[in-house]
Amino acid sequence: MRAIETTDLSKHFSSGKIKALDNVTLAVDTGHIFGLLGPNGAGKTTLVKIMLGILNPTSGSATLLEHPLDTIEIKERVGYLPENHRYPDFLKGGEVLDFYARLAGVPARTIENKKKRLLKMVDMHKWESTRIRKYSKGMMQRLGLAQAMVNDPDVLFLDEPTDGVDPFGRKQIRDVLHRVQDVGKTVFLNSHLLSEVEMICDQVAILDKGRLIRTGTVEELTSPSRTFRFQTSGVSPDLLTALKSFSLKIDCEDNYLTATCANQEKLNGIVDVLRKHHVDIKSIVPHKRSLEASFIEILKKDVVAE
Ligand SMILES: Nc1ncnc2c1ncn2[C@@H]1O[C@H](COP(=O)(O)OP(=O)(O)OP(=O)(O)O)[C@@H](O)[C@H]1O
Ligand SMILES: [Mg+2]
Repeated sequence: MRAIETTDLSKHFSSGKIKALDNVTLAVDTGHIFGLLGPNGAGKTTLVKIMLGILNPTSGSATLLEHPLDTIEIKERVGYLPENHRYPDFLKGGEVLDFYARLAGVPARTIENKKKRLLKMVDMHKWESTRIRKYSKGMMQRLGLAQAMVNDPDVLFLDEPTDGVDPFGRKQIRDVLHRVQDVGKTVFLNSHLLSEVEMICDQVAILDKGRLIRTGTVEELTSPSRTFRFQTSGVSPDLLTALKSFSLKIDCEDNYLTATCANQEKLNGIVDVLRKHHVDIKSIVPHKRSLEASFIEILKKDVVAE
């Protein structure tokens, strides 16, 4: 089932001078953790706001759980953690959840239990009775995550959920999101933290200046380059001279050789030379690009293509 689908979705501001979204067509199936990446001002928040009905698109269409966005009932099945959210700081953590649960129409008799369960889930139960003005940024994000889940949503939109959260807190948020996914829900998150996205998301899209320039799985975007790292029993000057005949970029460090081979033939050639020099090959590991390296490369190509 499609959780989110957009077709040629555009949003223009300032009488068309700013194209915050430019013909974005994208689909997310239920049960995925989807990451929308993009530099500042790429249009990520605008897309989420349109999906939630906070903004109207200039053109194009979108559906949520296969319903048009103006279907009122569908709003009950969506949760939202806004970017830079703020709650009145005289409220206690538990009161924030209470307030949002009532707004969301959660039956009063179930609120208390739900509150306890959610605060426990985000590891904030000890802070239920503390005013949120005393909370750290990470605690506020975790409370925000609990708030976004207060109506038990099928689709969860999170705008920069790990912003300002320390590594331990980020791990807790990742664990919560995986639990949410395990029960078949869909998570759509905007993030700048590419290493985070790499760990959490199974699908990603890259938005730049309102245009969707790439979609795929994290594996597809970080597909191994043709750079290999050989762990050997030793690298002699003779061996390096022999390898030079391949006119490859080869780096040598202790017993490791790193070489970029344009094709299988070159890779086989290096293995042959190593064996001819009686070098034991302990491992050959393809060098995987990080999502960050892929992201920068894709954005650079997009600038060149303009
Ligand atoms: N209400 C608005 N009026 C005019 N321009 C706007 C409005 N909201 C957003 N924009 C512009 O639309 C573009 C996309 O903004 P958006 O907030 O969606 O980007 P973003 O990808 O979420 O950025 P960030 O990573 O900084 O959160 C930007 O150029 C922004 O200035
Ligand atoms: Mg944003």
